[in-house]
Amino acid sequence: MKGNVTGLGVDLAEVARIRALARRNPRFLSRVFTPGELEYCGSGRNRWERLAARFAAKEAVIKALGDKTIALKDIEVSSGPDGAPSVKVKGRPRLKLMISLSHTGSCACAAVIAFS
Ligand SMILES: CC(C)(COP(=O)(O)OP(=O)(O)OC[C@H]1O[C@@H](n2cnc3c(N)ncnc32)[C@H](O)[C@@H]1OP(=O)(O)O)[C@@H](O)C(=O)NCCC(=O)NCCS
Repeated sequence: MKGNVTGLGVDLAEVARIRALARRNPRFLSRVFTPGELEYCGSGRNRWERLAARFAAKEAVIKALGDKTIALKDIEVSSGPDGAPSVKVKGRPRLKLMISLSHTGSCACAAVIAFS
């Protein structure tokens, strides 16, 4: 991707915290994650760490853009056929963002770079 770097954001999310938030508040998942994200994360073994990674991604986008007004659900992580993630912000089609995710059973992290 060409252009000047305008921002960098990184975030860590504890898998147990995301799972506890969802168990405490049944609307948490649908308020924070898009249908596409919920479908991708599925119901399998990796579900909670994948959701935690996407939660971290949303916070990392907010850090990279320096804009706390963006709703978490307006930030969507998608995955390509090779598994590589990408991220978009609803209503802001011109934003250029790069993202990388990593997760274990206990912790997930995301890094986001914003370009002009
Ligand atoms: C792609 C790869 C680097 C992911 O690393 P990992 O340690 O297995 O997993 P991590 O938790 O760090 O990262 C997982 C995330 O990487 C991202 N990812 C997957 N494939 C990717 C790719 N091709 N490019 C960029 N990111 C990718 C995804 O966002 C994934 O999270 P998700 O499944 O929730 O969407 C790894 O699977 C791989 O292919 N390594 C190549 C070397 C290898 O095969 N080593 C094994 C030798 S025993």
